[in-house]
Amino acid sequence: MNISLNINNVLNFISREEIDKYQDVITRNYKATLEKTGKGNEFLGWVDLPSQISDDLLSSIENVAEKIRSKAEIFVVIGIGGSYLGARAIIEALQNNFAALDHKNKHPFIVYAGQNIGEDYLAELMEVLDRKDYALTVISKSGTTTEPAIAFRILKNHLEEKYGKAEAKSRIIAITDQEKGALKKLANDEGYQTYIVPDDVGGRYSVLTPVGLLPIAVAGFDIQEFVKGAKLMEAHNKAGISFDNNPIGLYAATRNALYQSGKEIEIMVNYQPNLYYLTEWWKQLYGESEGKEGKGIFPAGVGFTTDLHSMGQYIQDGRRFLFETVLSVQQPNRELRIPTDDQDLDGLNYLAGKRIHEVNQMAELGTTLAHIDGGVPNIGISLPKVNENVLGQLVYFFEMGCALSGYTLGVNPFDQPGVEAYKANMFALLGKPGFEKETEKIKNRI
Ligand code: PA5
Repeated sequence: MNISLNINNVLNFISREEIDKYQDVITRNYKATLEKTGKGNEFLGWVDLPSQISDDLLSSIENVAEKIRSKAEIFVVIGIGGSYLGARAIIEALQNNFAALDHKNKHPFIVYAGQNIGEDYLAELMEVLDRKDYALTVISKSGTTTEPAIAFRILKNHLEEKYGKAEAKSRIIAITDQEKGALKKLANDEGYQTYIVPDDVGGRYSVLTPVGLLPIAVAGFDIQEFVKGAKLMEAHNKAGISFDNNPIGLYAATRNALYQSGKEIEIMVNYQPNLYYLTEWWKQLYGESEGKEGKGIFPAGVGFTTDLHSMGQYIQDGRRFLFETVLSVQQPNRELRIPTDDQDLDGLNYLAGKRIHEVNQMAELGTTLAHIDGGVPNIGISLPKVNENVLGQLVYFFEMGCALSGYTLGVNPFDQPGVEAYKANMFALLGKPGFEKETEKIKNRI
């Protein structure tokens, strides 16, 4: 395991004793998670997913990905929430920042649909797909989510018109529940290649199932290494390590202690633009898992140094209810140095010869110190570099951290009852059959 946690920069704000107070509850919650006896224990399949993934499943995904790669320039991932964010987080972390423009890329470019209901978005996507060879995966565990269902209906028609029914069929992969849901029935009736989302793995914990692994493999990344990284973190986690040596438990304890001290917003900070979607995935994982029963840390995200020129002002100087968790990458995958300039009109010659990363690291250190001075506690998570293995470790770190944190807060981290409220209103407003009474009621309100 080579991810490390630094909580020294919260100790000006809360004492080590306040963190250590959580030791017993975290230890109990660990046990409940590993032994699957806690709240929502029907959704704890992710706990041993890395060590349980079979070689057969990984090979099958790699083979299907290879077939897609041989005939598609674009691969559309249709899904929302946990059914797309994990794949996007890993793909965007690993791919060239300019992959869309990188014509030398031998792998399909991954695009996303069904994560919004923007009419222009889908119409513009179809205009692009008119001119490109493509394939798609439709991912929905329930098989009944409106956003991906609309996108799939439209793109299925598009694909069939473009290639004919038989060829279209070979370009569609469905990832859904083993038995239930409209998508499962459709996939069976049409004979699509199908992968299963295990019953005991909820959407936001599903990146290590075909939900995440297929798109990641199609994009050309090494899913074996990704799983290996997660397995490493799983093994470390199960090794009965002490509270002090357990970064996951300490992360959960520290953020709960900060929350109790009035720090209600956790801002995930990164200094690498390709980690933007990792933050989005983390926001979903923690927001949907913990925000319930009137409780929960609000997860937010910023990308520095970009957002130092916008949100930086608030973080430094605004209301003091924030703490930061900084994802620090120790080594970039490339090297670029600042050149000397004879005239030095921009005054940058004092940096000549230095790597850009060195400047980024000093920006990070300077910001951390400034924010601590400004009253913002800082948790550090250090990654040696960004690759499949480290991302696999990080995914498991955050999943387990989320379960422990949620249990410590006293909520069920594996349900999402609050998500239903907007759906019920939307269905009532759209006049969905079965919602007649709600339609009547809502009409009187507006
Ligand atoms: O984490 C979750 O469970 C949710 O975010 C779901 O992934 C999301 O609502 C999509 O659900 P489904 O896969 O059933 O379409």
